[in-house]
Amino acid sequence: MIIAPSILSADFADFGREIEAIEAQGADWVHVDVMDGHFVPNLTFGPPAVAAFRSHVTTVMDVHLMIAPVDPFIEAYAEAGADVITAHLEAGPHIHRTLQAIRATGKKAGVALNPGTPAEAVRHLLDLADLVCVMTVNPGFGGQKFLDMTAKIRALRAMIGDRPVQIEIDGGVTAETAPLVVAAGADVLVAGSAVFKGGSVANPAPYGANMRAIRDSVLRAVA
Ligand code: DX5
Ligand code: ZN
Repeated sequence: MIIAPSILSADFADFGREIEAIEAQGADWVHVDVMDGHFVPNLTFGPPAVAAFRSHVTTVMDVHLMIAPVDPFIEAYAEAGADVITAHLEAGPHIHRTLQAIRATGKKAGVALNPGTPAEAVRHLLDLADLVCVMTVNPGFGGQKFLDMTAKIRALRAMIGDRPVQIEIDGGVTAETAPLVVAAGADVLVAGSAVFKGGSVANPAPYGANMRAIRDSVLRAVA
Protein backbone atom coordinates (compact mmCIF):
# COMPACT_ATOMS: atom_id res chain seq x y z
CA MET A 1 0.00 0.00 0.00
CA ILE A 2 1.35 3.38 -1.05
CA ILE A 3 0.66 6.57 0.91
CA ALA A 4 0.85 9.74 -1.17
CA PRO A 5 0.46 12.91 0.93
CA SER A 6 -1.09 15.79 -1.01
CA ILE A 7 0.94 18.98 -0.60
CA LEU A 8 -2.30 20.91 -1.05
CA SER A 9 -2.41 20.68 2.76
CA ALA A 10 1.23 21.84 3.22
CA ASP A 11 2.49 25.30 4.20
CA PHE A 12 2.38 27.16 0.86
CA ALA A 13 5.33 29.33 1.89
CA ASP A 14 7.60 26.34 2.51
CA PHE A 15 7.03 23.56 -0.05
CA GLY A 16 10.65 22.37 -0.26
CA ARG A 17 10.95 21.67 3.43
CA GLU A 18 7.40 20.28 3.64
CA ILE A 19 8.20 17.71 0.91
CA GLU A 20 11.45 16.76 2.68
CA ALA A 21 9.56 16.42 5.98
CA ILE A 22 6.84 14.11 4.66
CA GLU A 23 9.40 11.92 2.87
CA ALA A 24 11.55 11.70 6.01
CA GLN A 25 8.41 10.71 7.92
CA GLY A 26 7.60 7.82 5.57
CA ALA A 27 5.67 9.11 2.54
CA ASP A 28 5.91 6.72 -0.43
CA TRP A 29 4.92 9.27 -3.09
CA VAL A 30 4.33 13.03 -3.17
CA HIS A 31 0.94 14.01 -4.65
CA VAL A 32 0.73 17.39 -6.42
CA ASP A 33 -2.76 18.78 -7.11
CA VAL A 34 -2.81 21.01 -10.20
CA MET A 35 -5.99 23.12 -10.50
CA ASP A 36 -6.98 25.65 -13.14
CA GLY A 37 -9.96 27.62 -11.79
CA HIS A 38 -12.02 26.27 -14.71
CA PHE A 39 -12.27 22.46 -14.50
CA VAL A 40 -12.31 22.91 -10.71
CA PRO A 41 -13.14 26.05 -8.72
CA ASN A 42 -9.61 26.56 -7.34
CA LEU A 43 -6.17 27.50 -8.69
CA THR A 44 -2.81 26.03 -7.75
CA PHE A 45 0.43 25.13 -9.52
CA GLY A 46 1.78 25.85 -13.00
CA PRO A 47 4.71 23.90 -14.48
CA PRO A 48 7.44 26.18 -13.01
CA ALA A 49 6.11 25.56 -9.48
CA VAL A 50 6.01 21.82 -10.09
CA ALA A 51 9.58 21.92 -11.47
CA ALA A 52 10.67 23.67 -8.27
CA PHE A 53 9.03 20.93 -6.16
CA ARG A 54 10.86 18.27 -8.18
CA SER A 55 14.28 19.13 -6.77
CA HIS A 56 13.00 18.21 -3.28
CA VAL A 57 11.29 14.92 -4.23
CA THR A 58 13.36 11.73 -3.89
CA THR A 59 10.43 9.29 -4.12
CA VAL A 60 7.78 9.58 -6.83
CA MET A 61 6.11 12.82 -7.93
CA ASP A 62 2.46 12.05 -8.65
CA VAL A 63 0.91 14.95 -10.56
CA HIS A 64 -2.91 15.12 -10.59
CA LEU A 65 -4.06 17.46 -13.35
CA MET A 66 -7.48 18.96 -12.65
CA ILE A 67 -7.35 21.14 -15.74
CA ALA A 68 -9.26 21.47 -19.02
CA PRO A 69 -8.06 21.41 -21.68
CA VAL A 70 -5.28 19.10 -20.51
CA ASP A 71 -3.51 18.01 -23.71
CA PRO A 72 -1.66 21.33 -24.35
CA PHE A 73 0.02 21.10 -20.91
CA ILE A 74 1.13 17.45 -20.76
CA GLU A 75 4.58 18.12 -22.18
CA ALA A 76 5.22 20.97 -19.73
CA TYR A 77 4.29 18.89 -16.67
CA ALA A 78 6.39 15.99 -17.99
CA GLU A 79 9.35 18.35 -18.38
CA ALA A 80 8.68 19.67 -14.87
CA GLY A 81 9.62 16.20 -13.64
CA ALA A 82 6.37 14.35 -12.94
CA ASP A 83 6.75 10.56 -12.65
CA VAL A 84 3.00 9.89 -12.89
CA ILE A 85 0.65 12.24 -14.76
CA THR A 86 -3.07 11.78 -14.14
CA ALA A 87 -5.72 13.47 -16.27
CA HIS A 88 -9.46 13.52 -15.68
CA LEU A 89 -11.72 11.53 -17.95
CA GLU A 90 -14.19 14.42 -17.74
CA ALA A 91 -11.66 17.06 -18.86
CA GLY A 92 -12.18 16.62 -22.56
CA PRO A 93 -13.66 14.49 -25.35
CA HIS A 94 -10.48 12.51 -26.14
CA ILE A 95 -9.15 10.84 -23.00
CA HIS A 96 -7.78 7.98 -25.12
CA ARG A 97 -5.55 10.44 -26.99
CA THR A 98 -4.61 12.14 -23.70
CA LEU A 99 -3.38 8.86 -22.20
CA GLN A 100 -1.39 8.12 -25.37
CA ALA A 101 0.15 11.59 -25.14
CA ILE A 102 1.16 11.06 -21.52
CA ARG A 103 2.75 7.68 -22.32
CA ALA A 104 4.57 9.27 -25.26
CA THR A 105 6.45 11.49 -22.79
CA GLY A 106 7.76 8.36 -21.05
CA LYS A 107 5.74 9.02 -17.89
CA LYS A 108 3.21 6.76 -16.23
CA ALA A 109 -0.34 7.61 -17.25
CA GLY A 110 -3.26 7.91 -14.87
CA VAL A 111 -6.96 8.49 -15.52
CA ALA A 112 -9.08 10.07 -12.77
CA LEU A 113 -12.83 9.62 -12.32
CA ASN A 114 -15.07 12.15 -10.62
CA PRO A 115 -17.60 10.72 -8.15
CA GLY A 116 -20.39 10.86 -10.75
CA THR A 117 -18.46 8.94 -13.41
CA PRO A 118 -19.01 5.16 -13.48
CA ALA A 119 -16.25 2.53 -13.50
CA GLU A 120 -17.53 1.37 -16.88
CA ALA A 121 -16.20 4.60 -18.46
CA VAL A 122 -12.59 3.30 -18.28
CA ARG A 123 -13.24 -0.23 -19.58
CA HIS A 124 -11.68 0.52 -22.97
CA LEU A 125 -8.77 2.52 -21.52
CA LEU A 126 -7.23 -0.05 -19.20
CA ASP A 127 -4.43 -1.06 -21.59
CA LEU A 128 -3.41 2.61 -21.90
CA ALA A 129 -3.35 3.45 -18.19
CA ASP A 130 -0.92 2.63 -15.39
CA LEU A 131 -3.26 4.00 -12.73
CA VAL A 132 -6.95 4.74 -12.22
CA CYS A 133 -7.67 7.45 -9.65
CA VAL A 134 -11.07 7.17 -7.98
CA MET A 135 -12.11 10.54 -6.56
CA THR A 136 -13.87 10.17 -3.21
CA VAL A 137 -14.66 13.90 -3.08
CA ASN A 138 -15.61 16.36 -5.81
CA PRO A 139 -12.19 17.72 -6.80
CA GLY A 140 -11.09 21.24 -5.95
CA PHE A 141 -10.36 21.39 -2.24
CA GLY A 142 -8.67 19.47 0.55
CA GLY A 143 -10.44 18.59 3.77
CA GLN A 144 -13.80 17.52 2.30
CA LYS A 145 -15.99 14.69 3.54
CA PHE A 146 -15.31 11.20 2.12
CA LEU A 147 -17.84 9.89 -0.42
CA ASP A 148 -18.22 6.10 -0.38
CA MET A 149 -17.10 4.78 -3.77
CA THR A 150 -16.33 1.23 -2.62
CA ALA A 151 -18.71 -0.35 -5.15
CA LYS A 152 -16.89 1.51 -7.94
CA ILE A 153 -13.49 0.42 -6.61
CA ARG A 154 -14.61 -3.24 -6.52
CA ALA A 155 -15.95 -3.01 -10.07
CA LEU A 156 -12.65 -1.51 -11.27
CA ARG A 157 -10.58 -4.15 -9.52
CA ALA A 158 -12.56 -6.88 -11.28
CA MET A 159 -12.33 -5.08 -14.64
CA ILE A 160 -8.54 -4.57 -14.31
CA GLY A 161 -7.96 -8.29 -13.72
CA ASP A 162 -4.25 -9.12 -13.96
CA ARG A 163 -3.24 -5.92 -15.77
CA PRO A 164 -0.51 -3.86 -14.01
CA VAL A 165 -2.88 -0.97 -13.20
CA GLN A 166 -2.91 0.62 -9.75
CA ILE A 167 -6.07 1.98 -8.14
CA GLU A 168 -5.53 5.29 -6.35
CA ILE A 169 -8.06 6.86 -4.00
CA ASP A 170 -8.14 10.64 -3.60
CA GLY A 171 -10.24 12.63 -1.13
CA GLY A 172 -11.23 12.26 2.51
CA VAL A 173 -8.81 9.40 3.20
CA THR A 174 -8.31 8.97 6.97
CA ALA A 175 -7.59 6.11 9.38
CA GLU A 176 -11.37 5.56 9.39
CA THR A 177 -11.93 5.43 5.62
CA ALA A 178 -8.63 3.82 4.47
CA PRO A 179 -9.59 0.25 5.51
CA LEU A 180 -12.80 0.46 3.46
CA VAL A 181 -11.07 1.45 0.23
CA VAL A 182 -8.15 -0.97 0.65
CA ALA A 183 -10.58 -3.85 1.29
CA ALA A 184 -12.33 -2.87 -1.94
CA GLY A 185 -9.07 -3.07 -3.92
CA ALA A 186 -7.20 0.24 -3.64
CA ASP A 187 -3.41 0.29 -3.59
CA VAL A 188 -2.46 3.99 -3.54
CA LEU A 189 -3.97 6.31 -0.92
CA VAL A 190 -3.73 10.08 -1.36
CA ALA A 191 -4.22 11.97 1.89
CA GLY A 192 -3.87 15.69 2.52
CA SER A 193 -5.46 16.95 5.71
CA ALA A 194 -5.19 13.58 7.49
CA VAL A 195 -1.38 13.55 7.03
CA PHE A 196 -0.57 17.22 7.66
CA LYS A 197 -2.86 17.80 10.66
CA GLY A 198 -1.05 18.71 13.86
CA GLY A 199 2.43 18.91 12.29
CA SER A 200 4.78 21.44 10.65
CA VAL A 201 8.31 21.54 9.27
CA ALA A 202 9.45 22.54 12.77
CA ASN A 203 7.48 19.65 14.29
CA PRO A 204 7.20 16.93 11.63
CA ALA A 205 6.67 13.91 13.92
CA PRO A 206 2.85 14.17 13.66
CA TYR A 207 3.17 13.63 9.87
CA GLY A 208 4.79 10.27 10.57
CA ALA A 209 2.28 9.40 13.30
CA ASN A 210 -0.61 10.30 10.99
CA MET A 211 0.73 8.09 8.19
CA ARG A 212 1.31 5.23 10.64
CA ALA A 213 -2.26 5.61 11.91
CA ILE A 214 -3.53 5.14 8.34
CA ARG A 215 -1.26 2.12 7.71
CA ASP A 216 -2.12 0.55 11.08
CA SER A 217 -5.86 0.96 10.53
CA VAL A 218 -5.53 -0.99 7.27
CA LEU A 219 -3.35 -3.69 8.84
CA ARG A 220 -5.80 -4.11 11.72
CA ALA A 221 -8.68 -4.46 9.28
CA VAL A 222 -6.98 -7.20 7.25
CA ALA A 223 -5.72 -9.09 10.35
C1 DX5 B 1 -8.95 17.22 -4.20
C2 DX5 B 1 -7.51 16.81 -4.37
C3 DX5 B 1 -7.03 15.93 -3.27
C4 DX5 B 1 -7.07 16.60 -1.92
C5 DX5 B 1 -7.06 15.56 -0.84
O1 DX5 B 1 -9.33 18.00 -5.27
O2 DX5 B 1 -7.33 16.11 -5.58
O3 DX5 B 1 -5.75 15.40 -3.54
O4 DX5 B 1 -6.03 17.47 -1.71
O5 DX5 B 1 -7.20 16.22 0.39
P1 DX5 B 1 -7.87 15.54 1.64
O6 DX5 B 1 -7.09 14.28 1.93
O7 DX5 B 1 -7.77 16.56 2.70
O8 DX5 B 1 -9.28 15.20 1.24
ZN1 ZN C 1 -5.41 14.93 -5.94
